[in-house]
Amino acid sequence: MGTNVKPYQAEGSKKEQVQQMFDNIAHKYDFLNRFLSLGIDIGWRKKAIKMLAEHKPKCILDVATGTADFAIATLKINPEEVIGVDISEGMLEVGRKKLADKGIKNIRLESGDSEDLKYEDNYFDAVIVAFGVRNFENLEKGLAEINRVLRPGGVAMILEFSKPKGLFGAIFNLYNKTFLPLWGKLFSGDSAAYTYLPESVKSFPEGDEFKQIMSKVQYKNVADRRLTFGVCSIYTGLK
Ligand SMILES: C[S@@+](CC[C@H](N)C(=O)[O-])C[C@H]1O[C@@H](n2cnc3c(N)ncnc32)[C@H](O)[C@@H]1O
Repeated sequence: MGTNVKPYQAEGSKKEQVQQMFDNIAHKYDFLNRFLSLGIDIGWRKKAIKMLAEHKPKCILDVATGTADFAIATLKINPEEVIGVDISEGMLEVGRKKLADKGIKNIRLESGDSEDLKYEDNYFDAVIVAFGVRNFENLEKGLAEINRVLRPGGVAMILEFSKPKGLFGAIFNLYNKTFLPLWGKLFSGDSAAYTYLPESVKSFPEGDEFKQIMSKVQYKNVADRRLTFGVCSIYTGLK
């Protein structure tokens, strides 16, 4: 379940290709994020953290942390412990340098797979994921693992691209098909990465379909909130 769209070729493991792709683009990732989203991604993470604050989590896991932007954003709500986990060492390296440059000592970045988390059951008050679940090889397994490490009553918060409708949707699709791969290729040096992005968004479940998958793997009170005309959605669910 999820999406079978892979970055480089139809054969072979999606996980290995995703890891390779993020290792390839790691050093350009932050710049491209800001540039290609016109900085809007920062606002989405901020909005999510505002929603997260209502749960007062002290112990947070950021799954698919990448260069740690979402993990860093949680510091606003004064957690006691934050761990970021990712399969791409390249992304983590950039993240670790960012933490060191900012003098941040209370976030730990660790290598690991969302579909086989090394943390104990019922540990975290909140598990957050930004733009990560679309890349999972096995979506249900990843979501179930997140549920396993959450404490009862803990919250999972997932940000992911969704598909805007109407006129804005048409403009967005045009941007995704033309400018996004062009800019991505020009600046990242990995032409596949920025065709994979819109293709994986297109085939990934959103809205009710995504919420049904969360419910299926035992999340309660599953809800979603669409941002920026539906370009991005925030999904929440409780253990
Ligand atoms: C688009 S980036 C998002 C990074 C960060 N969360 C952000 O908001 O900028 C997706 C990240 O998911 C990671 N990822 C993909 N599959 C993963 C998995 N199975 N386990 C852990 N991380 C994974 C990739 O390595 C990559 O760093």
